[in-house]
Amino acid sequence: MSKRKQILPHGGKVLINRLATPEQREAFLGMADQLPRVMLSPRGVSDLVMIAIGGFSPLKGFMEQKDYEKVVEDMRLSSGVPWSIPITLSVREEVAEPLKPGTVVRLDDPEGKFVGILELTQKYPYDKAREAIKVYKTDETKHPGVKVLYEEGEINLAGPVWLLQRSRRDPRCGAPHPLFPLYQIDPEKSRAMFLAKGWQTVVGFQTRNPIHRAHEYIQKCALEVVDGLFLHPLVGATKSDDIPAEVRMRCYEIMLEHYFPQDRVILAINPAAMRYAGPREAIFHAIVRKNYGCTHFIVGRDHAGVGDYYGTYDAQHIFNQFSPEEIGIIPMKFEHAFYCKRTGQMATTKTSPSSKEERIHLSGTKVREMLRRGESPPPQFSRPEVAAELIKAMQSGM
Ligand code: ADX
Repeated sequence: MSKRKQILPHGGKVLINRLATPEQREAFLGMADQLPRVMLSPRGVSDLVMIAIGGFSPLKGFMEQKDYEKVVEDMRLSSGVPWSIPITLSVREEVAEPLKPGTVVRLDDPEGKFVGILELTQKYPYDKAREAIKVYKTDETKHPGVKVLYEEGEINLAGPVWLLQRSRRDPRCGAPHPLFPLYQIDPEKSRAMFLAKGWQTVVGFQTRNPIHRAHEYIQKCALEVVDGLFLHPLVGATKSDDIPAEVRMRCYEIMLEHYFPQDRVILAINPAAMRYAGPREAIFHAIVRKNYGCTHFIVGRDHAGVGDYYGTYDAQHIFNQFSPEEIGIIPMKFEHAFYCKRTGQMATTKTSPSSKEERIHLSGTKVREMLRRGESPPPQFSRPEVAAELIKAMQSGM
């Protein structure tokens, strides 16, 4: 095994670990009935998990006002470290009112299960319209990230958190999940795995959609350059018309079985929730993968975008607003990939002489319509085994 210095977690030397020790857990459980309770949204549960496992290092908890303000305005924590998305716990005024800073608060998941602790240090009001415009570049509630923001409470509760237990459950609803435990590889473990494999360079891939040929193409182009590929589908909350995580994970299993070299790829879940904040979320996604130990991160067309809120390559340009050293993970930028009929291969305009008519690429909406009708997208768009799995899922009323 080669000895190498691993990439440092974001903003510091150590990976944050806010998983309660067995003793802490027992103590917290003993206090359970006396503590004031706050119920987390599915996104809140995901954020709690991500903080606890170090995916959001250097955050130890939900953001205090000075970090929140600086993140919204300048994409930095108050320490100056880059951070592009507010990580906040917002509650209604009547929930916040009786809670005094200094209090230990019990955090429940949406089913009322005790999942974590908040050491409340601060509570503060915030301006939703400003957050929407700055972070999402729109205050339209038809934007799915803005919609969630407007549904949240008006007061942010801040302070360090503890996760009671790293549960092998679906972070969206707390239900046991038959597939994900296999792929529950937290940052400490992924770092150890990369080291054990002797990978000097690892590229992370964020995704919320079923894998298609363009994904596969950019993943493999990246893998030609680095030692390992960390496939990291997001399995926290997504918008209602996105394909459910369990179906997407099955598609990845199929792809790994048939189309990838097993020893060069690690598949793992990213328990985070999707924000659809386009460019700002690309920075955030890259930082999270740095915490998992990746040295490189794929940013393709309209990364984390939705509708036409962001320019096709805005999520790539935003990296220019930071120095490479302070981001600390290298973005691998890819143009819009498609199947080129003239050359008979996947390509982008950088590598293909084709006219528009000679390119095969389909929108997500079009593909979903085809699948619903039981029609398979062409093999130039989707591997047939993946298309079959998606049709099966659609027809079972997924
Ligand atoms: S995302 O919301 O997670 O970005 P998706 O799962 O579709 O959505 O994309 C995962 C990654 O692949 C992103 O970096 C995205 O930019 C990239 N990507 C998706 N489709 C293409 C394509 N046709 N060409 C180039 N990059 C793409």
